[in-house]
Formats: sequence, C-alpha cells, structure tokens
Amino acid sequence: MNRISDQKGMVVWLYGLSGAGKTTISLLLKQMLENDGFFAVCLDGDELRSGINKDLTFTEDDREENIRRAAEIARLMLQNNIITICSFITPLQKHRALAAGIIGESYTEVFIECPLDVCQARDVKGLYKKARTNQITHFTGISSGFEAPANPELIIHTAVESPAESMEKVYQHIAPLLKR
Ligand code: ADX
Repeated sequence: MNRISDQKGMVVWLYGLSGAGKTTISLLLKQMLENDGFFAVCLDGDELRSGINKDLTFTEDDREENIRRAAEIARLMLQNNIITICSFITPLQKHRALAAGIIGESYTEVFIECPLDVCQARDVKGLYKKARTNQITHFTGISSGFEAPANPELIIHTAVESPAESMEKVYQHIAPLLKR
C-alpha cells in the first residue's frame, strides 16, 4: 500500500454538459485510483451546490463564484498531496481559465463531450424536460450557453463509448502525471 505522502497531488477537472457523464467517470476514476493505492477525492457540482455553495444560482456570475470556490478547495487538497477529481459543467472558457489559474501547474482538464440531444434523451435527473418547459431557467444548453473548447487537452466522447472506456482514457492520460 502506498503512503499518501508518497503520492503527488493533482487536480483532474472534468467539464461538459449536464448528463454528459462527468460524475459517473469521476467515481469510476476514484475507484481505479484507489485500487492502485492512490488517495483521491471527488468534488461534484451537485454536491457542492447542496452545501457549501447553496447560496449560488446559475447566472454567469454565480457559476463563476461556484467554480472559484471549487478550485480553491481543490487547491487546498493539492497542498495535501491529494488527487482531486472535479466534475463541474464549467460552461465558459473564462471559468476553465479561472480554475486553471487558481490551481496552477497540477491542473489537468478533460472535456467530457456528449451531444446535447443525447444528454436530453438521457435526462437522468429530468432537468432538461423542466428546462424546456421553463420550469428551470438558465439551464446549460437550453437557456444558458456552453462554450466547447477550441483546443481541448483531452476530449472524451461518452455517446460512443462505455463509462469504463471513458474512465480508462482519462486514467491513461493522468497516469504519467502521478509519478513524483
Ligand atoms: S456550473 O455551471 O456552475 O459548473 P455545476 O456543475 O456546479 O454547474 O452544477 C450543475 C448541476 O446542477 C447539473 O448537473 C444539474 O444537476 C444541476 N442544475 C440545476 N439547475 C441547473 C441549471 N440551470 N443549469 C445547469 N445545471 C443545473
């Protein structure tokens, strides 16, 4: 068993539309890392928004504050050699740049890509339906924007591969970065 003091902390930032598979991949990745003797923590949009960030809405400014707080928490984890997997929509390029700037060189971002119509068809939480009928406002992809990255560091296409395959690709990408 590795000791936590032997591991190099890093932040893996998964971003993409609601329903794209960010949370699913983050939980699989955490499990895989733990199986390999690493210590990893997940920070998820829904979870933070039900607690520490429950004062925030989905306006552009509040999303920015949501990301700022999440990135600051991830930075504290990093200082303690923890691998932190963040899953937030992080819709705008400026939000991604904010997280990258707060976290610094140990930040790696992964675009969890899935076409909007596939996310809507999945509609795991029933939120797309509510957004289409105006029961929810500022919904990403419906009534609020999402900027696809021009030049993503890594892109995962969850509409055409299994969660395990997606996780494996992320794992292969970060594995070389985990070595001290
Ligand atoms: S972010 O844009 O600020 O990065 P975050 O990842 O924290 O968003 O939260 C997204 C989650 O909040 C979604 O997966 C969904 O469950 C829920 N949600 C509720 N309202 C909205 C909305 N208007 N737009 C997007 N997601 C919403």
